[in-house]
Amino acid sequence: LWKMQTFIDRTISEIREKVGNNRVICGLSGGVDSSVVAALLLKAIGPQAACIFVDNGLLRMGEADAVRKMFSEWYKADLHMVDAEKRFLDALKDVSDPQLKRKTIGYHFIEVFKQEARSIPNAKFLAQGTLYPDVIESGGAVDGPAATIKTHHNVGGLPKELGFELIEPLRDLFKDEVRRLGVELGLPEELVWRHPFPGPGLAVRCLGNITKDRLEILRKADKIFLQELKESGWYKKTSQAFVVLLPVQSVGVMGDGRTYENAVALRAVQTDDFMTADWSHLPHDFLAKISTRIINEVRGVNRVVYDISSKPPATIEWE
Ligand code: XMP
Repeated sequence: LWKMQTFIDRTISEIREKVGNNRVICGLSGGVDSSVVAALLLKAIGPQAACIFVDNGLLRMGEADAVRKMFSEWYKADLHMVDAEKRFLDALKDVSDPQLKRKTIGYHFIEVFKQEARSIPNAKFLAQGTLYPDVIESGGAVDGPAATIKTHHNVGGLPKELGFELIEPLRDLFKDEVRRLGVELGLPEELVWRHPFPGPGLAVRCLGNITKDRLEILRKADKIFLQELKESGWYKKTSQAFVVLLPVQSVGVMGDGRTYENAVALRAVQTDDFMTADWSHLPHDFLAKISTRIINEVRGVNRVVYDISSKPPATIEWE
């Protein structure tokens, strides 16, 4: 039996010993890994930890607020929330190529993060949520298609040039162990069981051009889908689920009138490793309910389709 408490105690004393009186920067993404790292750090060194969260304007509805509530209000962490929405949306204006989206977002993320990190005096360390599979992957032993087909970037991958010494308390753990650790540390269930969310966020789910209005439509539809998944118990039975706003308008009828509005796709998959995935066989009446709600409640959407492609040959994300 793996003794979580022993791991926690050992990790905390290792962090304290390594850090001394210096400060540690911790990038928060809203996901499980970085939250667990932050919780460990806060337990170990409290106010010596400085958490940075970059709001790139490409997050799901309520995401930034959830992070603020948890880390600033509940943990009383030194939380540096950077509102960089304008910077990101300006940079992405007229960018519709998926790889260019990723590159642009990755570049600006590092710039914004660097700038904020410089404002924290005596910061010598950077804590990252690197997991064991990431360690193997960067060592070249495993070169998965997900790593090569799309240029990935996330909070876990800040460049060495930032000049910090790294603290990677999760580098011996697998994802399920990180979740158990999160439970043991008292993180909310909702956070511990969160599906992965890509670093480029809604940018790769808002196909084609990204505008504030299109992101808003996507957020509203996505919120309905997630809410229904959670209420029905399907959230835990899927590995990842989200809405994609298509770069397509289609004809519809409303009352006596003709509409010409957006189509969205629902995507839900089951997978163990995200290298291959099966589309989730959600019940038809459940899909019908979601479709009706989205079309009734989200202005600008008049059509909902369900993605029934598996990976490979399709990928999980559409871009
Ligand atoms: P695909 O679409 O390649 O996705 O089947 C596999 C997994 O990777 C996630 N993903 C990303 N994660 N930055 C990330 O941090 C990215 O650019 C990125 N692209 C895809 C995707 O959500 C899925 O979990």
